[in-house]
Amino acid sequence: MPTPNSLDSFWMPFTPNRAFKADPRMVVRAEGVHYYAPDGRAILDGTAGLWCVAAGHGRPRIVAAIQRAAAELDYATNFNLGCPAAFEFANRLADILPGGLDRIFYTNSGSESADTALKIALAYQRARGKAGKYRLIGRERGYHGTNFGGISVGGIVRNRMTYGPMVAGVDHLPHTHDITRNAFSRGEPTHGVEFADALERIVALHDASTIAAVIVEPVAGSTGVLIPPQGYLKRLRELCTKHDILLIFDEVITGFGRLGAPFAAQYFDVKPDIITMAKAITNAAVPMGAVAASREIYDTILANADTPIELFHGYTTSGHPLACAAGIATLDTFRDEGLFERAAELAPYWEEAMHSLRDAPHVIDIRNLGLIGGVELEPRPGAPTQRALEAFRKCFDKGVLIRVTGDILAFSPPLIIEKNQIDQIVDTVRGALGEIG
Ligand SMILES: Cc1ncc(COP(=O)(O)O)c(C=O)c1O
Repeated sequence: MPTPNSLDSFWMPFTPNRAFKADPRMVVRAEGVHYYAPDGRAILDGTAGLWCVAAGHGRPRIVAAIQRAAAELDYATNFNLGCPAAFEFANRLADILPGGLDRIFYTNSGSESADTALKIALAYQRARGKAGKYRLIGRERGYHGTNFGGISVGGIVRNRMTYGPMVAGVDHLPHTHDITRNAFSRGEPTHGVEFADALERIVALHDASTIAAVIVEPVAGSTGVLIPPQGYLKRLRELCTKHDILLIFDEVITGFGRLGAPFAAQYFDVKPDIITMAKAITNAAVPMGAVAASREIYDTILANADTPIELFHGYTTSGHPLACAAGIATLDTFRDEGLFERAAELAPYWEEAMHSLRDAPHVIDIRNLGLIGGVELEPRPGAPTQRALEAFRKCFDKGVLIRVTGDILAFSPPLIIEKNQIDQIVDTVRGALGEIG
């Protein structure tokens, strides 16, 4: 029998289990922008958890809302029954979403949001008499979580290759990362709007009458902070409209102020038909995700249903009372503390800080937008990803949590971060890079 403190039983997600368990890094408490290790050491959270603790850790208003909700109504199904918080939260989300994207379906994660969005797109096409539009178009290097729909449209080989044929009828746009032309771009890179034109070739190959939807992350996070080239998302929108294809923005990391606007759709002034969200929706204090669909999609599916239930989809904990309470308190916190505006104000300082690493050892590119940063390292010959992993461990030992993906260091601090803490991140990374070969 394992002892309670044994690390054996927990099969850790997206973690080298053997290496971690041989040399674990644990945190036991968090407050504001810091985690605390068992020995009390503070670790600056340079990644807002996993892009999710936007308002910082342990916010008393959110904690109190969850405690109240748990004591009042611990659970109610939203199948044929309702709890007020779920309706209130949907209205509150609709208030900050782009106009007309105001029909909210609750999930429990970003992965479920991606699969839900794809299913809503297919249901919509069928409802309007276009069931032949069944293809789903993702993008190379895209990440839409780990469920079957998400990995099918996603573009990360290791997340896909093990799992068989996945969802049929999927194709992929090329990714937009072009380091030869765009290295060290500040904000949106100049080159690459034409990557969107690949959709024309996909349409030429399959015909638009077979294509339901295109799904992209406005800024791709998980494959190393890929900022869309200037005009790219607008071009994609135009092409989707031209060919009667739905456009889905996966805003699981860009939603809730990361770019200094509520959603990337507003930041880029491009309105998709569906937006997925999760993570910061509750400041990650309770797991939750959601999908916002346009009124047109919702009305079409409802109007054409041939059974009382219009969409055969949902989760036991869709719109869980604790998650909705946490979500409402989170939106209150964002609003009352002006955190989206704060992110916009800090963005220029963040950009300068990130790009000050240009002359640090091993750095071959730096990218930034809003409060997102990516620093790409030259891979160590014959040992890709090792250099970044070593940098990650060194930074942690020096009291800063960063994220690595491949040979890219990714940064997404809580929106409450202070300038001196931004400096601490940059100084720590510079120090770590100087110590590794
Ligand atoms: C763009 C995007 N979509 C979906 C997901 C999956 O979210 P979750 O891990 O909550 O399932 C993520 C997670 O990082 C993400 O970045």
